[in-house]
Amino acid sequence: MGNKISVIVGAQWGDEGKGKITDLLSQDSEFVVRFQGGNNAGHTLKVDGIVYKLHLVPSGILHSHTTCILGTGMVIDPKTLCEEIEALDKKGFIREQNLLISENAHIIFPYHIAMDEALTNHQGKLAAGSTKRGIAPVCADKMYRHGIRMVDLIEPEIFKEKLTTAYKFNSDILEKVFNINLGITEEEIYNVYIEYAQKLKRFITNTDLALYKASKENKKILFEGAQGFSLDIDHGIYPHTTSTNTVAGNIHIGGGNHWNQEKKVIGVVKAYVSRVGTSPFPTELLDELGEKLREEGQEYGTTTGRPRRIGWLDLVQLRKAIRVNGITEIALTKLDILGCLKELRVCTAYDISGKLVKETPSSLTKFRDARPIYATFDCWDRTSQEHIKEFLKEGYGALPIKMRAYIEFIEESLGCPINIISLGPDREETLIKKI
Ligand code: GDP
Ligand code: IMO
Ligand code: MG
Repeated sequence: MGNKISVIVGAQWGDEGKGKITDLLSQDSEFVVRFQGGNNAGHTLKVDGIVYKLHLVPSGILHSHTTCILGTGMVIDPKTLCEEIEALDKKGFIREQNLLISENAHIIFPYHIAMDEALTNHQGKLAAGSTKRGIAPVCADKMYRHGIRMVDLIEPEIFKEKLTTAYKFNSDILEKVFNINLGITEEEIYNVYIEYAQKLKRFITNTDLALYKASKENKKILFEGAQGFSLDIDHGIYPHTTSTNTVAGNIHIGGGNHWNQEKKVIGVVKAYVSRVGTSPFPTELLDELGEKLREEGQEYGTTTGRPRRIGWLDLVQLRKAIRVNGITEIALTKLDILGCLKELRVCTAYDISGKLVKETPSSLTKFRDARPIYATFDCWDRTSQEHIKEFLKEGYGALPIKMRAYIEFIEESLGCPINIISLGPDREETLIKKI
């Protein structure tokens, strides 16, 4: 990796394989930084046959040379974080100063989780089908300016003062609007969270400054996006989005620094599409093909276990993702899974009320009406472990010609190189054309 700053973002609806690619590229990074989202994310890594699932800690944690940072733009549930750190610590992955938590990151409380459930029920068809981790409510509290940050957790007096205001606001809404009794008192929350504070204190710091120094020292910094472009609060399919900005540009805010130097922006693209939650999904496969891909690809949510909805690759979605994120190259994942099919399709444009449309519409009405227009490809034969080993040894030219035709069609249609080709979940099962 020539560039000092690299950003990994999901280019679709999440679960593209960002964790795997982050772990891989962490081999050559000194800092690995999450800059948005919370434990709505579920990132899976597989190394030497062992599977690791991370929700908050950056996917660079398995490497002994990296410093992992939970940045300013994150929203953190300390219960999940304590559990995650404890599990990693047992395996020897937590060392002196290899994990830092931003003092500015906002904290998720039980009332946020209860509110998430209530809001989802209230919003009905317009809900995003959230992961119920409290993401939208914690982001709302941040904007209301009665949110509570990590730094407050380690200052008991101000923590109590802020908690009183936030607790009253949230428990009143739950009770008076939704008729829900939160079932936990302010004092109980305070006591439990003070215990989390004891466990997390040593990690909480000014990560913006740490990253500024790292940048000044020319260190290699890798940003790990969570969720995916179509879930971005501003650029995604609103209101069926998450509540943070998932776009690469958010590293300047959630990453706590200016990053004006040249960057590599790697868009992770799954060779088909998956979606957890609610929204129109033009290329969705509601038939046995979708079922087949779900089973072959083991498409069940890392965070919630929900079956993921499956569809064909959508170039309309990707065109916008490349433009808005400034994606400089693509990491294409799960090509091995498509080998179970005879024929595959790629959506090149939408037909919306008889009009050919190549850009994602902002109008929800139009998006609901979008019908995919497809290009069709012959599929390659299933790739065995032996095949994959051979491809990795021989390089790109050894890939089946039909697979290369698919890859090159995507590259040409999007005007963006595919430099990383992932052929299995393991770190090693990756063909790198160029980094
Ligand atoms: P993330 O949220 O973007 O990090 O993606 P997830 O980890 O939620 O989901 C991706 C899933 O696909 C994980 O179970 C990965 O281990 C797996 N995976 C990643 N790349 C590949 C690949 O190229 N082939 C296969 N078969 N599995 C992959
Ligand atoms: P990773 O990082 C897939 C989806 C939810 C829902 C919407 C809003 O693993 O790719 P939220 O809980 O954020 O309020 O939910 O966003 N969603 C994800 N889908 N992968 C994720 O993360 C997601 N994080 C949120 O299903 O539709
Ligand atoms: Mg995931």
